[in-house]
Amino acid sequence: MHRYGLIGRKLGHSFSKDHFTGVFAKTGLKDHVYDLFELADIAEFPDLLKNKQDLCGLNVTLPYKESVIPYLDAMDPLAAAVGAVNTIVVKDGRTTGYNTDVAGFRTLIRPMMSGLTDPGSDVKARALVLGSGGASRAVAFVLREMGIRFRIVSRSRERGDLTWDLIDPTVLRVCRLIINTTPLGMHPDVETEPPLPYAALSAKHALIDLVYNPEETAFLRHGMEQGAKTIGGLGMLKAQAEEAWRIWQEAEK
Ligand SMILES: NC(=O)c1ccc[n+]([C@@H]2O[C@H](COP(=O)([O-])OP(=O)(O)OC[C@H]3O[C@@H](n4cnc5c(N)ncnc54)[C@H](OP(=O)(O)O)[C@@H]3O)[C@@H](O)[C@H]2O)c1
Repeated sequence: MHRYGLIGRKLGHSFSKDHFTGVFAKTGLKDHVYDLFELADIAEFPDLLKNKQDLCGLNVTLPYKESVIPYLDAMDPLAAAVGAVNTIVVKDGRTTGYNTDVAGFRTLIRPMMSGLTDPGSDVKARALVLGSGGASRAVAFVLREMGIRFRIVSRSRERGDLTWDLIDPTVLRVCRLIINTTPLGMHPDVETEPPLPYAALSAKHALIDLVYNPEETAFLRHGMEQGAKTIGGLGMLKAQAEEAWRIWQEAEK
């Protein structure tokens, strides 16, 4: 059996299980299965590997994208540069960490860049990245790659550049690209939202939410109401899953 799966603290209904079960069925891979593994603590990871000897690969979701790294035998260079892992290959008893959120986020951000700078201005758009966890690291990597200056907003002074109380209309006037990498707004807590002065948003802003369930979050709705360009996380989710499957297929050869 070729066993794949997802690790995370609370998994509930999973896109990944439906997605990969569909991929296996469509490609006639009857000996491939995809399971959900809820881990109350990442310290349970070695036991999972021991108990499921037929594991070939894992996806990693919140909150373990960074804390899983010390448990892995090797890191792909991109994942090492990002500092977060969302895909693991298990082969010949060795685990290697990869990051496919980077590829996923690249597909999400490209169409959002037009109109962010004023015509005739050579001042590059600036971004605010909300949250400082695993997905935030992948987003920061892509923004650096694109030469976009950004600030990270965190509840903690140590993990971010700005704490939430400092985000006022002046900050939002300067940062026209706002990317939510926190779980605020995610099912089942759909009424939660990043605490921002939303009235300061305009048609010159672009809002990206990595949350994909629901597709339209309260964060994105505020942006729409102010005329901003908005996109949810579903496209990224599909793109990062496709990249994970490409990596796993390569490892199966
Ligand atoms: N669409 C996609 O393909 C995709 C890919 C990756 C992730 N995601 C989504 O992105 C979200 C984050 O995932 P992740 O793996 O990065 O999780 P994570 O590692 O747990 O990081 C989330 C970060 O959000 C901040 N945060 C958490 N709870 C918060 C709260 N109540 N108020 C304010 N900030 C809070 C924290 O930053 P501070 O401690 O600095 O405040 C935390 O580090 C999830 O909703 C996930 O589903 C989507």
